[in-house]
Amino acid sequence: MSPANSHYALFVWLLALFALVDPALPFRVPPHYSGEAQKLADPNYGPIPGQSDHYSSYWGIERPFPGNITDPVFPTQDGPPGEDDFVWQNLLAAEWIIFEFYQQGIERFTDEDFTKAGMPDNTRQRLMEIRNNEAGHLRIFQNQISPTSIKPGPCKYTFPLADPLSYMTFMTVIEISSMAFLSGLVQAAENDWNQGLIAALSQTETRHEAWVLMEIWKTNPFAGPSDTPFPYANQILDSTQGLVVPGSCPPENPEYPYPRQHLPALLAAPDTKSLAPGATITLAFTDKDNQPVFDPDTQYYAVFSHGVHNISVPIVTEGFPLRPINVTIPAAFETRGVIVALIANQLGAPVKESVVAGPAVILEQPVELGPELVRGGGPEAT
Ligand SMILES: *[C@@H]1O[C@H](CO)[C@@H](O)[C@H](O)[C@H]1NC(C)=O
Ligand SMILES: *[C@@H]1O[C@H](CO)[C@@H](O)[C@H](O)[C@H]1NC(C)=O
Ligand SMILES: *[C@@H]1O[C@H](CO)[C@@H](O)[C@H](O)[C@H]1NC(C)=O
Repeated sequence: MSPANSHYALFVWLLALFALVDPALPFRVPPHYSGEAQKLADPNYGPIPGQSDHYSSYWGIERPFPGNITDPVFPTQDGPPGEDDFVWQNLLAAEWIIFEFYQQGIERFTDEDFTKAGMPDNTRQRLMEIRNNEAGHLRIFQNQISPTSIKPGPCKYTFPLADPLSYMTFMTVIEISSMAFLSGLVQAAENDWNQGLIAALSQTETRHEAWVLMEIWKTNPFAGPSDTPFPYANQILDSTQGLVVPGSCPPENPEYPYPRQHLPALLAAPDTKSLAPGATITLAFTDKDNQPVFDPDTQYYAVFSHGVHNISVPIVTEGFPLRPINVTIPAAFETRGVIVALIANQLGAPVKESVVAGPAVILEQPVELGPELVRGGGPEAT
């Protein structure tokens, strides 16, 4: 071997060694992963959303692609993250929850379980179709994250899977909540095309919602002239933490959601009879390890958003927690779609920092499902 050749060999060898030991190098996959998931870094790998019917009419029970590949995908290029990478990472982490919700329902229930509960013959088939759409969302979000950022993998989750009715009730609030947080995530994205894509995705969730309202609940699917755009999307994402089994996420995943305010979870008390506009409810802060602390010299408000407007109702926090906090849901709101409720230290919660607890997404359509969710189906209760 000539001296030049041996120098070259040494150089290649050192480079290989460096790749093994330097965790900063983008193509390093931790040894506890097989490396299989790295194939997903290529957007042309596997069925392409919008070009393959895999994301519509795949009828297997097994997880559809890419839901069957669950390791995080590590960066394949060095460099700064894309401007909206954190938005797509938040969405991908949330999408894993939604995808798993459908996947587990399909595994848990048979066609007969749904028909016995009085639901149409094709209920489970529709749920498969929705699951496939959600798998397509996983793939779209993976592809939207730049090669310089990690694509998060799923955690373990717990859902209300006791019976078809509570499952479909939870599905109704999941779909309508995803519309509410997508309207907020549009505002978080910098890039115009990304904003348009998020708006398009919310239309898919709307169709899922319209299906469940018409076919399962036999109700009018219209939510009035506008759905509720909620500006602080990550607060809604954070309220899904109750579904995540603590400590079950891949340790390399970015913090979810990012940025995160760690606000106390808010719900109505379990004995709530009605969550319709005009009903008086008692507030429940359901995470015993994260309770709100109220400053005695501050006036707090329950801020209710519905459609394009919000209404603030002053609350009495004196004596909390011994004295529970009651509040009346504004009677002015139409009983449709959702009401998003939160506690703020400023009228109208004009900035995200003014929110001190919540939000809670209150299902108004069908209005009788709202109290059901408070009793058993809600994320905070699991
Ligand atoms: C994942 O699913 C796709 C589509 O059904 C299949 O082609 C692929 O082999 C599966 N991959 C794994 C790792 O199971
Ligand atoms: C709150 O409302 C409940 C009924 O929902 C009532 O029993 C209780 O006395 C009320 N508490 C306060 C502090 O107003
Ligand atoms: C409530 O409405 C006010 C006035 O339109 C607005 O400034 C504020 O941002 C709204 N709050 C929320 C949480 O949407």
